[in-house]
Amino acid sequence: MTTAPTAPTTPTTGLVGADVARIEGVDKVTGRAKYAAELPFAELAYGVLVQSTIVRGSITAVDVDAALAQPGVIAVLTHDNAPRLVEAEDPTLLVLQANRVHYRGQAVALVVADSLETARAAADALEVTYAAERHDVTFAPDTELEPDDEVDPALASAPITVDATYSTPPEHNNPMEPHSTTAMWADGRLTVYDSNQGATNTQRSLAKLFGVERTDVRVLSDHVGGGFGSKGSPRVNSVLAAMAARVLDRPVRVTLTRQQQFSLVGYRTPTVQRVRLGADLTGRLLAVDHMAYSQTSTVLDYDEGASGYTTAMYATPVLRTDTNVVALDVPTPRWMRAPGEAPGSFAMESAMDELAEACGVDPVELRIRNDTDVHPGDRQPFSSRSLVECLRTGAERFGWSGRDPRPAAARDGRWLLGTGVASSTFPAFAVPSTASVTVEPDGRYTVRITASDIGTGARTALTQIAADALGVSMEQVEVRIGDSDFGSAMIAGGSAGMASWSWAVIKACRELGSDVEPGRSVTVNTRDEIGAQGDLARHAFGAQFAEVGVDLETGEVRVRRMLGGFGVGRVANARTVRAQLIGGMTWGISMALHEEGFMDPRFGDYANHDFAGYHIASNADVPEIDAFWVDEHDEELGPLGGKGVGEVGIVGTAAAIANAVWHATGVRHRDLPIRPDRVLQAP
Ligand code: MOS
Repeated sequence: MTTAPTAPTTPTTGLVGADVARIEGVDKVTGRAKYAAELPFAELAYGVLVQSTIVRGSITAVDVDAALAQPGVIAVLTHDNAPRLVEAEDPTLLVLQANRVHYRGQAVALVVADSLETARAAADALEVTYAAERHDVTFAPDTELEPDDEVDPALASAPITVDATYSTPPEHNNPMEPHSTTAMWADGRLTVYDSNQGATNTQRSLAKLFGVERTDVRVLSDHVGGGFGSKGSPRVNSVLAAMAARVLDRPVRVTLTRQQQFSLVGYRTPTVQRVRLGADLTGRLLAVDHMAYSQTSTVLDYDEGASGYTTAMYATPVLRTDTNVVALDVPTPRWMRAPGEAPGSFAMESAMDELAEACGVDPVELRIRNDTDVHPGDRQPFSSRSLVECLRTGAERFGWSGRDPRPAAARDGRWLLGTGVASSTFPAFAVPSTASVTVEPDGRYTVRITASDIGTGARTALTQIAADALGVSMEQVEVRIGDSDFGSAMIAGGSAGMASWSWAVIKACRELGSDVEPGRSVTVNTRDEIGAQGDLARHAFGAQFAEVGVDLETGEVRVRRMLGGFGVGRVANARTVRAQLIGGMTWGISMALHEEGFMDPRFGDYANHDFAGYHIASNADVPEIDAFWVDEHDEELGPLGGKGVGEVGIVGTAAAIANAVWHATGVRHRDLPIRPDRVLQAP
């Protein structure tokens, strides 16, 4: 029997796109929302990871006895006694399997104790003896370009050319919540409470590593405090917790420290990028050549692909982009917010500004002049592309018109003032996902999907989308996420989470239809419709505008205001989408001015591996900042019609700021970050 529905307190239509506060917001700020490292368990043991103090070589001995003699220490796992792992799709997860050391900071042991403090003390005291070998951690790629019989002649005959080399430093993912896993085995089944961007990836990886069926691994991640790519697939904390729990037959928790995050969860590789542009006298591109160099470890071949940005951007008859990866004895770089596009856009959008200067064309106009309806790399038409509208509307709202193009012409007391612009793009796609909807005995609906809310508001947006699809109020719907038992689904990554999850949720709600008998449940997967998508280029676009002040006495650069305009299709929640966009832009300020991992070549590690030495933009660094989106209707994106907003906000931001610093000072900063010492040393 169906009970009378409760009175709706949100409308049943117009929910998608509405400005709705996060459902779990109060729980989060009051501490009721529990993260992976906070959940209480009986008999919980704590594992603390010990890291190698050499860069390259082998472990010759581990003095386990001294650690085990300490009261409260339960076990020490090393390569000698750790369970053998079966199969890894990611070789960085083959932890404690051999005595080789591939980089400084690699996990060489796990000390497990009955308290975190005891485990930490024993881990600090653990004596590991090594045979060290010579190492190479210095990223200094050979940037000699291969000759090309298309691009070289086109550049040679172009009336205007730019040839410049840019660099970006290592940058480190620092989600507020460090990586943490609590694992337990029961009846051959592994359950992990884990901080991740997608329980499906963690489930699949752990099943392979431990040689069990996927259905014998359950991954739960109700609340996640950020990831930015570093939680897109599991890291060693998940594997070590599962190993120790299996050996000890009790729950084990492994949480990384902030310092450990710098070598164990991935980071953005440093890049060197050479960009050559050829153009006619009006600034129309005749040739584009973008070569990007990046580093990886000796463990995993990771290619940042920074020049990929340029394949999506501007019309040009001749285009060459390539990447070149150097393997060093360093921790493995991995995804970090807008991998590829973030550093790639810094190089390309700086080069476009240099071209605007060389041609005497306004930088907004130059970009409009080189717009295209066809993806320059793969020659497919764009499903939609609002770059020109973002540039035009952004310029109008920012107050670009009437800008004096001359550099170093504006001043406010001791501050030189300048404005800059850059374009932005990020691919839009969807990945097949599973969702179900169930009619509860009281007539309410429960939607289940293995989505991850990493702080973005995904749970809230999915509730809006489900309620809209069911034609009920949000209070009638509970969306449950973060449980691999709900079936495989896309991660919160690639800016493709919401497009993928919403597709499955809307499909499930539509299939439920009007037959809402209590107890009825519908489960769907979207592989067929996503597989049937037409061949089109799908990308979000944007335009970033920045105004800076540069203090020539101290070398300090301060962003005074920023505005980003974006074409991202349909927006699911106005509040959380705006937060994503200005969050990305804020990180772009950080990238332009602050963030830089310092690799010490003798020590072989990132020396500034904490928040004292690694600088991130704080509130005081973030001025007036705003984002808007243009009306964009795209029928080629699935039922939500949204393009994803997690990454496009950071893309282009650093270039807009660097271009504004040029406009303020007349000096090009081709190396990030634009530190005070670099400003002062500039000619
Ligand atoms: Mo994002 S770097 O695709 O998780």
